[in-house]
Amino acid sequence: MRIGVLTSGGDCPGLNAVIRSVVHRAVVDHGDEVIGFRDGWKGLLECDWLKLDLDAVSGILARGGTILGSSRVRPEHLRGGVERVKGHVEELGLDAIIPIGGEGTLKAARLLSDSGLPIVGVPKTIDNDISATDVTFGFDTAVGVATEALDRLKTTAESHQRVLIVEVMGRHTGWIALNSGTAAGAHAIVVPERPFDIDELTRRVGARFEAGKRFAIVVAAEGAKPRAGSMEFDEGGRDIYGHERFAGIARQLSVELEQRLGKEARPVILGHVQRGGTPTAYDRVLATRFGWHAVEAVHREEFGRMTALHGTDIVMVPLAEAVSTLKTVPPERYAEAECVL
Ligand code: F6P
Repeated sequence: MRIGVLTSGGDCPGLNAVIRSVVHRAVVDHGDEVIGFRDGWKGLLECDWLKLDLDAVSGILARGGTILGSSRVRPEHLRGGVERVKGHVEELGLDAIIPIGGEGTLKAARLLSDSGLPIVGVPKTIDNDISATDVTFGFDTAVGVATEALDRLKTTAESHQRVLIVEVMGRHTGWIALNSGTAAGAHAIVVPERPFDIDELTRRVGARFEAGKRFAIVVAAEGAKPRAGSMEFDEGGRDIYGHERFAGIARQLSVELEQRLGKEARPVILGHVQRGGTPTAYDRVLATRFGWHAVEAVHREEFGRMTALHGTDIVMVPLAEAVSTLKTVPPERYAEAECVL
């Protein structure tokens, strides 16, 4: 068989582990040929590819980023994009395409699959917000990075008697905020799923100082918002590509809390450091298993599906299910975290 692989959307630790696993299983065990498209769907649109053999994937298991490069280009957003992709798939004699990506990538994958292309998806995102899989690789690494940062920030916050508002990634969901905040013992966590009340947040943080504590750490997912009318709030806008760009919840909260509490407050934006660097062992294992199962699904011709983790098993689920809704933090998870904050 001839299989094409691509990585699309925001990168995340573990992408290289999937590519390596696909090549090992397909080339070594099945005798397939694997090619990789550069910079996501863009490579398929422009027929820009390279051969992926064992040498090409040697030594990449623990490397962050993606050796193939990534972009947020989507075929369905370009005039004639879908037809161009179909033409190149035929020209290159591809029997299957394995796109590795998040919500946007999987939406494109579903559309192309519905148009008749043989596609098996692999989900990834540090945000962990893809429904139909319990976990996405990259998430464990991002939570680890954020937790380590929070542990470090506590000591400097205490020295200066400050409130630190730490912004973590999560445009639509608060999984990273919830898990890193719980792991590091943050004093408040705000997430997009549950607009916060600024009076309540001020009370919670203020109560710590009244109890004689010298500092407070608030973890804010980048997409967190105040309850309507509870605080003046700049929602940000969209960048030149039409992606949401937030005005900075940490900056806005630090101004507000400093004024309300009479304590020094500082915003800390962790940003892309959460997406960079070497994947954790957990993410390497999950990514490797996804790659292996994607190749098996290709050989069973189980197209229009993606790999998913259900409990401890890797299963195949319809792409349609994966892109139907985002997996948000359920209220009970938030309640569990809140009781120990
Ligand atoms: O989708 C993953 C993610 O890291 C989000 O958490 C974040 O909001 C976004 O990507 C950032 O995108 P970019 O790297 O394009 O600024």
